[in-house]
Amino acid sequence: MQKFKRIFLIVLDSLGAGELPDAEKFGDKGAHTLRSVSMSDKLFIPNLRRLGIGNIDGLGFLGTNESPEGAVCKLSERSNGKDSTIGHWEMSGIISPNPLPTFPYGFPAEILDQFSEITGRGVLCNKPYSGTKVIADYGEEHMRTGSLIVYTSADSVFQIAAHEDVVPLEELYTYCRQARGILTGKYGVGRVIARPFTGEPGSFTRTSHRHDFSIEPPALTMLDALKNAGRDVISVGKIQDLFAGRGLTETHSTSGNADGMSVTAKIAGEDFDGLCYVNLVDFDMLYGHRQDADGYAKALSDFDRWLGDFLRVLREDDMLIITADHGCDPSDDSTDHTREYIPLIAFGRKIIPNNTGIRSTFADIAATVCEALGVDYYCEGRSMLGEMTDIRVHLRERAVRAMSDSYSPYSGFRVGAALLCGSGRIYTGCNIENSAYSPSLCAERTAFAKAVSAGERDFTAIAIAGGANSVIEEICPPCGVCRQVMGEFCRPEFEIILAKQDGFELHTLSELLPLGFSL
Ligand code: THU
Repeated sequence: MQKFKRIFLIVLDSLGAGELPDAEKFGDKGAHTLRSVSMSDKLFIPNLRRLGIGNIDGLGFLGTNESPEGAVCKLSERSNGKDSTIGHWEMSGIISPNPLPTFPYGFPAEILDQFSEITGRGVLCNKPYSGTKVIADYGEEHMRTGSLIVYTSADSVFQIAAHEDVVPLEELYTYCRQARGILTGKYGVGRVIARPFTGEPGSFTRTSHRHDFSIEPPALTMLDALKNAGRDVISVGKIQDLFAGRGLTETHSTSGNADGMSVTAKIAGEDFDGLCYVNLVDFDMLYGHRQDADGYAKALSDFDRWLGDFLRVLREDDMLIITADHGCDPSDDSTDHTREYIPLIAFGRKIIPNNTGIRSTFADIAATVCEALGVDYYCEGRSMLGEMTDIRVHLRERAVRAMSDSYSPYSGFRVGAALLCGSGRIYTGCNIENSAYSPSLCAERTAFAKAVSAGERDFTAIAIAGGANSVIEEICPPCGVCRQVMGEFCRPEFEIILAKQDGFELHTLSELLPLGFSL
């Protein structure tokens, strides 16, 4: 069933939410893009805070919010990488066990031999090199011999530079496509890039005819699934490059964040049915790599100001998801990307403000988007839609999470409860045991004690989850004492949600406590 009509998925490129447990393997111990950005006095993000960015696990330094307007979580990267391509692929359903290959010592002879055979031209350079320096150093020889300048960088790229008078543009693009055909499998670089230039020796300059030939995702992504199901799939910014144009029905190139935001606002004024997938690249390209925390903070503040207006134009059936694709801590000791969690904020009239915790893969985004748009798509992600939109599913989840705080050294039986009040607030509780046994508190009564002592008197529902060693084997119905407490404060139709391993069972108080005592 399609629950949402339009989803805006906005990727703030490189806005990491703190090191992943395996960050050290990537040379990124201690990296934390958001924290570094938050140190700048240029950061002013009232709208992101209003939605609840500070409620994300570990982001309390941004200011927690008692009554957030959005649903939040942070997600782990399962893929073995930290670049844009692999990050966007994972959030679109594809987990990559291998990183895209890089060639710090140049490309192997077998690749270059094949390339020369097809193009009939020799190869110059074949090393990591700066794009402007490479034409200054090799341009003249290229003009004399007609050989192509092939170079790479720290990224997974195969770049071909050629003078527009020596190799006409179309011919250069053909060479790129031919290189793309050779560069597969373990040589499958993320991008082959045409780098045409012009001018005289000593004053060569690059032209604006750069063109990227990206590698296609190795399997069906959520974009393919949405397009095949007849939904609109609109890209803004570099999304089209990251997916080699696949799975899209409409594309918009942009010149940077400001352009990307204005194009997105324009699309929001139109009618479509599906996904608008946006990448805002300046955070990464202009500020993260250049170690400019103030610039990064200012760009995020600009986004926040735009966001304030954007939230107002969203419609009843819209969902906005704001997230990132990897980190690029501007204050760590490298200019490179960093292996981090990504933050996620979802907002919409049908979204229940909450926190869906720490997720095990970015692919949870693909699962959520596809379920929300009513499209079947299998991936390893777990949809958050139920938790984000169905209050009972959400309460069950909160009760399950509350189990982890249980103090139950005597029984070893952990219980968690989540109590929903008429005010919309949710109070959780766990069981708290005592060596003298009788002072022990049940999870439900802990939750009621917290709520009542905070002034709450109107209650809608409670979810209860229990099990030995945190494993839910069967439902944990409330004990008689807890039922009596519920009878004190709640109406007969008060809902009692009993968590099962998968899902829940629903009862009312009148069912569980018929003929309760009262004065
Ligand atoms: N317990 C609850 O927290 N709620 C109930 O409704 C039933 C029992 C706890 C109390 C004790 O710590 C443990 O479960 C085993 O009885």
